[in-house]
Amino acid sequence: MRDANLDTSNIYETERAEASRGLGGAMGAASLSRRTVLRGAGVAALAKVDAIPVGGAILVKDAAGKPVILSQPTAGTVVAMTAICTHQGCTVAPAGAQLVCPCHGSVYKSADGSNVSGPAPKPLAAVTVHVVNGEVLPG
Ligand code: FES
Repeated sequence: MRDANLDTSNIYETERAEASRGLGGAMGAASLSRRTVLRGAGVAALAKVDAIPVGGAILVKDAAGKPVILSQPTAGTVVAMTAICTHQGCTVAPAGAQLVCPCHGSVYKSADGSNVSGPAPKPLAAVTVHVVNGEVLPG
């Protein structure tokens, strides 16, 4: 039975090296070498898109253990930012459409990490992510 969620086009790329260089013709198809390149394997998803409330955010950790905020301002749009407060480095927590720092009360918008109130001097730094098959991946 085929797994509908398995998209091998994002995982494996088979390359016929000689064919791409025009060397395979004289030797015949049987001599074509194949090189399989693993792409994306071993990269752990940060979360499933479905786990992020639309209009809200969740707190996750990246592979290095750093806290990351994932928000979904509109259905299907995922925004990621560090969860490290720009005031003195505490970890902010999702609270509906906002992110609240428990240390001194800074508040940010979960949609983009911009400042709402409090002593934090700058917005939360953006983190690059992308979505594959409903999962949020780093990078
Ligand atoms: S560390 Fe976040 S408000 Fe001070």
